[in-house]
Amino acid sequence: MGNLTFTMIKPDAVAANNHIKILQHLVDAGFRIVALRMWCMSLNDAKRFYEVHKQRDFYLELSKFMSSGPIVAAVLEKENAVAELRKVVGATDPEKAAEGTIRRLYGTAVRYNAIHASDSDENARLEWSIHFKDSDIML
Ligand code: CMP
Repeated sequence: MGNLTFTMIKPDAVAANNHIKILQHLVDAGFRIVALRMWCMSLNDAKRFYEVHKQRDFYLELSKFMSSGPIVAAVLEKENAVAELRKVVGATDPEKAAEGTIRRLYGTAVRYNAIHASDSDENARLEWSIHFKDSDIML
């Protein structure tokens, strides 16, 4: 288990001006931010990011939404980072997410669920490479 993971605060949470509160929530949960970037993905960037979901019926709409406005991408450091982040983020559907999790606090629907969290060390690395160069990561 690695000590790095990737997160992305989605356009719904940035538009609602919740991105700083979410970053603070992550820091308070013991994560160290080792790379940080606010930017707008193109539709092609978003499609590449969500390529694993290519066959799903929500793939195009999800990619359009994810490229509809600024996101905040970050690489986070903590022991057992992937699993720890997924605990703090909560279930995909904000209504089913546990009390106090980021998606429960800031998400409004399955698509508009405020934040993405990588599901494995391997995917974390693949995902952050869409947002960062190796030299952007402050280890
Ligand atoms: P995320 O963790 O970013 O990974 C894939 C995203 O697809 C997920 O969060 C949801 O926002 C979105 N998603 C998953 N299932 C659905 C669905 N049934 N309809 C719309 N969006 C979905």
